[in-house]
Amino acid sequence: MNSKITALKQLELMNALENAREPRLFSVIDLKVKNLLPQWLQFSPDVFWLNHPEEQKTIEVYEQITSFFLKQGIQRGHTVAGIGGGATTDMAGFVAATIHRGVNWISVPTTLMGMVDAGLGGKTGVNTSHGKNLLGAFHLPEHVWICADFLKTMSRTEILSGRGEILKYALLSNEIYDLAMNTKTPMEDIIMACAQYKMKLIGEDFKEAGNRAFLNLGHTLGHAFEHTLKIPHGIAVTMGIKYLFQAMKLENALASYELIFKSLQLDPEKVDLTNYSQFDKSAFWSAVNHDKKKTGDGLKLTLVDNVGQPRFEVLPVAKLKTLVEALSDFKT
Ligand SMILES: NC(=O)c1ccc[n+]([C@@H]2O[C@H](COP(=O)([O-])OP(=O)(O)OC[C@H]3O[C@@H](n4cnc5c(N)ncnc54)[C@H](O)[C@@H]3O)[C@@H](O)[C@H]2O)c1
Repeated sequence: MNSKITALKQLELMNALENAREPRLFSVIDLKVKNLLPQWLQFSPDVFWLNHPEEQKTIEVYEQITSFFLKQGIQRGHTVAGIGGGATTDMAGFVAATIHRGVNWISVPTTLMGMVDAGLGGKTGVNTSHGKNLLGAFHLPEHVWICADFLKTMSRTEILSGRGEILKYALLSNEIYDLAMNTKTPMEDIIMACAQYKMKLIGEDFKEAGNRAFLNLGHTLGHAFEHTLKIPHGIAVTMGIKYLFQAMKLENALASYELIFKSLQLDPEKVDLTNYSQFDKSAFWSAVNHDKKKTGDGLKLTLVDNVGQPRFEVLPVAKLKTLVEALSDFKT
């Protein structure tokens, strides 16, 4: 079983959403997306709007949404749609996974991050006071509708964050590397290639017992940077990849990283640790220690020897710490 991924123009998306209202559609929508979906507002009373999706990715708001949908009469044969960035689709997917023990859902990612990663794959959930994404469920959307028209309104920072995830894919896959290295490739083609790559891994390994974990490249250090420096996820992942490759002395992968970085016009200042004056090293290592991919004292890292050749290596946290702290940027 897998999701059906379709690229749609704005009008096609409107029509698809209109058709999905049979028998009935319940939506969780990021309020910021409203300007791009004006028609939707006029037609659907069964919408729960999120005005600060990441802050609202909580069990309390989950409770509000499920109460609202139940009050409106949601039934097992109805569908939930999540329209927004990753925080919105994570929430909508979790509502769909749990309400009436699971109803179908449609993911409509509206950020670059959502289109290449967060809006696909069926990992759904909410944050808790103990950490991010700690309550959740695996529940694949029936459809993922990708409409690149949404990208027009995104901030530069959010675009850079999404491109950081694309850089990850370009290291994992030769095909995506070739697309990313050609500056004339339409962004929509890169998005669809990343989405198809992720879906292929998921088709083989839905619950991340094997190669799906390749997608975690850069995420162990990345999540710790995100948490410590309060920077967008994809920028933190880019930093996580850079410092991981440096620490593990993966020279070929590092050279490819630099080429992709330039081609995707990422911002070198944003991934240079020395530009962050408030870096709290002990908070950083505490975050690494709480990594979900840790078993015992071992961290399962995705490494890349050459583009398209990912592999896993299990390393004790103490060993990783020694290697990373030997890097000059960590000594400031
Ligand atoms: N489920 C997964 O597999 C997975 C993978 C990676 C990340 N995530 C989750 O995704 C979230 C990060 O995703 P994100 O970066 O999309 O975050 P987000 O949903 O918080 O969106 C980022 C910002 O962009 C705004 N936005 C959304 N669409 C827009 C548009 N078209 N134009 C302008 N602004 C728009 C949002 O309102 C928000 O301010 C995190 O909660 C993370 O945990 C999930």
